[in-house]
Amino acid sequence: MNFNNKVVIITGATGGIGAESARRFADAGAKLCLVDLDMAKLKELVLDLHLLEEDYLVKACDVRKEELVKDYVEATKEKFGRIDVFVNNAGVEGEVAPIVETETENLDFVLDVNIKGFYFGLKYVLPIMYEQKEGSVINTASVAGFIGSPGLAPYIASKHAVLGITKTAALESAAYGVTVNAVCPGPVDNDMMRNIEKKASPDDPEAVKTNFEQMVPLGRYATNEDVAHTILFLASDKAKYLTGTLHRVDGGMGAK
Ligand SMILES: NC(=O)c1ccc[n+]([C@@H]2O[C@H](COP(=O)([O-])OP(=O)(O)OC[C@H]3O[C@@H](n4cnc5c(N)ncnc54)[C@H](O)[C@@H]3O)[C@@H](O)[C@H]2O)c1
Repeated sequence: MNFNNKVVIITGATGGIGAESARRFADAGAKLCLVDLDMAKLKELVLDLHLLEEDYLVKACDVRKEELVKDYVEATKEKFGRIDVFVNNAGVEGEVAPIVETETENLDFVLDVNIKGFYFGLKYVLPIMYEQKEGSVINTASVAGFIGSPGLAPYIASKHAVLGITKTAALESAAYGVTVNAVCPGPVDNDMMRNIEKKASPDDPEAVKTNFEQMVPLGRYATNEDVAHTILFLASDKAKYLTGTLHRVDGGMGAK
């Protein structure tokens, strides 16, 4: 796939899915704005990807802070003149506990990052794409947007919201020629699942992994690559006629 000179913003860029997507967009010729919490990790990623000064921007940003979201969007427009692709991907899993034991702080944390931070991104990126009459947004949702999962209610709530907002944003954006789609991974073999496994069973995280794997007809977690492939496809010219769609990358979980 060719993304020569396309300008791509990725949030959660130093995480498993974000970094793999960044690598693939860079290999395909894109210019990148990489957004995540930790500047040191962002700089490491830039070195790892061998990016040239003129081809990237890094922004340390907590997506819960609206003014920082506005800033990474404006800085991208200022440096590169446009925004072609927005991978709205930053997210947290939160604590693992039944609803009756939920700490309100955890509920606020997960909803603030996964809904509000995600929403702020759309609020500031979409007007620039509307002006261009062109652009493609890929929201990272989850199979958690379709199902329940004991112990993960705030995360489940947030990903259901991401799907609803994706469909609404797609409808609001269609008249401007801007597409908005969601990628919905099942469990992915990266830090987020390692955290969930440990939080669910500190003494035997492997057993949690085995349990999750048994829920997947293909019998394994997704790789970051599996998810990045779909993100790049949705961002590409090949997906021009897709909008408001929700793409499961789940090894067959949705067929059950
Ligand atoms: N890992 C999975 O099993 C899985 C499954 C389905 C969906 N997802 C979704 O994929 C997306 C990417 O996660 P991942 O799998 O790469 O996990 P990850 O934990 O490796 O990456 C998440 C990234 O988001 C960043 N982030 C967290 N809070 C932030 C904030 N407030 N501001 C800015 N950045 C923040 C983290 O620093 C991290 O780099 C998330 O939205 C997640 O919910 C993950």
